[in-house]
Amino acid sequence: MRHRTLLPLAAAALAAVISAAPSPAASVIPLSFYKGHDLSSLKMLEDTGTYTFVDTAQDNTTRAADDILADGGMNAVRMRLWVDPTAQGADTYGLNYTIAWAQAMQAKGRRLYLDMFFASDWADPSKQPTPAAWSTTDLGVLAASLRAYVGSTLQAFAEAGVALDIVALGNEIRNGMLWPLGQASVDVEPWSATVANFSSLAALWKSARAGVDDAVAAGATKPQVLIHIDNGWNQTIQERWFAAMVANGVSTSDWDVHGFSFYPFYGTAATFTNLNASLNYIADTYGKPIHVVETDYPAVCNGEYDPIPPSSEPQIPYNVSGQLEWVQDVVSLVKNEVPNGLGQGVWYWEPAFENDTSLGSDCNDATLFAPVYSGSDTTSYSRASVDMFLDD
Ligand SMILES: *[C@@H]1O[C@H](CO)[C@@H](O)[C@H](O)[C@H]1NC(C)=O
Ligand SMILES: *[C@@H]1O[C@H](CO)[C@@H](O)[C@H](O)[C@H]1NC(C)=O
Ligand SMILES: *[C@@H]1O[C@H](CO)[C@@H](O)[C@H](O)[C@H]1NC(C)=O
Ligand SMILES: *[C@@H]1O[C@H](CO)[C@@H](O)[C@H](O)[C@H]1NC(C)=O
Ligand SMILES: *[C@@H]1O[C@H](CO)[C@@H](O)[C@H](O)[C@H]1NC(C)=O
Ligand SMILES: *[C@@H]1O[C@H](CO)[C@@H](O)[C@H](O)[C@H]1NC(C)=O
Ligand SMILES: *[C@@H]1O[C@H](CO)[C@@H](O)[C@H](O)[C@H]1NC(C)=O
Repeated sequence: MRHRTLLPLAAAALAAVISAAPSPAASVIPLSFYKGHDLSSLKMLEDTGTYTFVDTAQDNTTRAADDILADGGMNAVRMRLWVDPTAQGADTYGLNYTIAWAQAMQAKGRRLYLDMFFASDWADPSKQPTPAAWSTTDLGVLAASLRAYVGSTLQAFAEAGVALDIVALGNEIRNGMLWPLGQASVDVEPWSATVANFSSLAALWKSARAGVDDAVAAGATKPQVLIHIDNGWNQTIQERWFAAMVANGVSTSDWDVHGFSFYPFYGTAATFTNLNASLNYIADTYGKPIHVVETDYPAVCNGEYDPIPPSSEPQIPYNVSGQLEWVQDVVSLVKNEVPNGLGQGVWYWEPAFENDTSLGSDCNDATLFAPVYSGSDTTSYSRASVDMFLDD
C-alpha cells in the first residue's frame, strides 16, 4: 500500500513517466481504480463488542470484516458524516466517530471517501433535514453555517492526520439539500435550466465548496470534491441537474468528480444500457472522473417483501452469485464503457450492516455476510461475494 503523504510524489513520478512515453493515451489514468465499500456502520457494530465476522474461506476464522473485504479486493472505504447525531443518543456517524474510523482505515492503507450529509440523520432524495442548530428561514445565515461547518470539519480531519481522497458535498442531492431552503427539483415541466428554485441550492452548494477552500487555506490537503446524485441511469435527471447548477452560477471547475447511485430494485429502468448512456453523456459533457458511489444487490429477497421487487436486470438472480455478477458487470461498465478512462470507481453500500440487512434495498439482505438470525447470536459468515472486487 502506498503511503498517503507520498501521493504527490507518486503522481509527479507517474506524470513524468507518462510525458516521457512515446504516445501517451489522451486519457486520465487513475493511480488505481477505486474498489470501495461503504463501511459507515461497521465501527458501530465493532464498538458493541458482540458482533463477530467469520471468514468462511479461512476455516471459519474470526476476523475483522474490513480485512475480509480487503482480501476481496477492496482498496477504499466510504464513510457518512452526520452533523450532530447526538440528539439521537449516540455519536454514531458523528465527527469523533468518523475521524476515529477514518484513522483506523487509513492506518490499514485504504483510500478514504467522506460522505458529508449536511444533516444529522438520513438524507436522500425524499428527505434532506436541516440540522437543528442551522437556520431554516434565512438563506444567508444557513450558507454561512454550512461554509463554517465544512471548513472546520475538514480541518479537524487534517489535524487528526487523516488525508481524505474524496469529499462529497451532500448525499444524493437530486432534490437539493438542507430543506426547505435548499430544495430543488428536476421535475418541473416545461423544464428550463434556470428554474428558480435551483438558485438557492446553487448558492448553498457554493458556500459548502468555499468551506473546502477555507480548510485548504488553513493547511488541509485538497480532496477531490464529488457531487452525488441518485438514479445515475436516468440521463434526463443528470442532464437537467448539472445544467441547472451551472446556469445558477456553479462553475464546472468547482467540482472534480461525479458520483451516482445505481440500484436494481427501485425501478426497472435502472438497466446497464441506460446507465451506460447516462455516464457516457456525463463524461462527454464534463470530462471529469465518474464513480458509481452506491450500489448493492440482494443475497436474499423472498416473501418478506410482497411483491418481490423485480431486478432491473432480471437475468441476474437475487442470490450470492447474482451479487457477484451485478457488481462485476457494473465495474466492467464503469471501467470499459465510460470513455477516456474517466470511469474510476465503484462502491458497494454497507456490505456488513448485519443488524439492519435490508436497509438500502427493497429486499431482506444485500450484505456480503450471512448473519445468524436466531437468538442472541451475532455471528456473520462471509459469503462468496466478499470477493466481488478480486477479478476485474
Ligand atoms: C463454518 O461454519 C458453518 C456454519 O456453522 C458450517 O456450516 C461450516 O461447516 C463451517 N466450515 C468449516 C470449514 O468449519
Ligand atoms: C468529541 O471529542 C471531543 C474531544 O475529545 C470531546 O470534547 C467531545 O465531547 C466529543 N463529542 C462527542 C459528540 O462525543
Ligand atoms: C422547488 O420546486 C419543487 C417542485 O416544484 C417544490 O416542491 C419545492 O417546494 C420548490 N422549492 C423551493 C424552495 O421553492
Ligand atoms: C427520468 O427522469 C425524468 C426527470 O426527473 C423523469 O421525468 C422520468 O420519468 C425519469 N425516467 C424514468 C424512466 O423514470
Ligand atoms: C456505451 O455507450 C457508448 C456511447 O454511446 C457506446 O459507444 C457503447 O457501445 C456502449 N456500450 C455498451 C456495452 O452498450
Ligand atoms: C443463484 O441462482 C441461479 C439461478 O437460479 C443458480 O443457477 C445459482 O446456482 C444460484 N447461486 C447460488 C450461490 O445460490
Ligand atoms: C444495530 O446495533 C447498534 C449498536 O448496538 C444499535 O445502536 C442500532 O440501533 C442497531 N440497529 C438496528 C436496526 O437494530
